[in-house]
Amino acid sequence: MTRVVFVERDGTARVVEGKPGDRLLDLAQNAGEPLEGTCEGQMACSTCHVIVDPDDFAKLPAAVEEEEDMLDLAAGATRYSRLSCQIWLSDVLESLTVRIPSDSKNMQGR
Ligand code: FES
Repeated sequence: MTRVVFVERDGTARVVEGKPGDRLLDLAQNAGEPLEGTCEGQMACSTCHVIVDPDDFAKLPAAVEEEEDMLDLAAGATRYSRLSCQIWLSDVLESLTVRIPSDSKNMQGR
């Protein structure tokens, strides 16, 4: 198992377990985190944007150009922003910590 720590809008941390190979967006949505992911990973929306803990950011493979372009459109993006639809869990990412941007919504608009 690979644990992911989601830091909620109110600052509380929530640990969710996934498996290597799981996509972070799917893990978040299955756990009820408010990430919309409108385009389901086609890199056409940026509604799956998360802010990665700086200590974990360097463990991720570099973003491809299309991801960088979509992050330019993400509300509240920082230098540690990534698209959760482009992150797959692995042993290297054990305890990956990501913050949900405050303007995020899930498919129910919450
Ligand atoms: S789900 Fe649309 S860019 Fe990730």
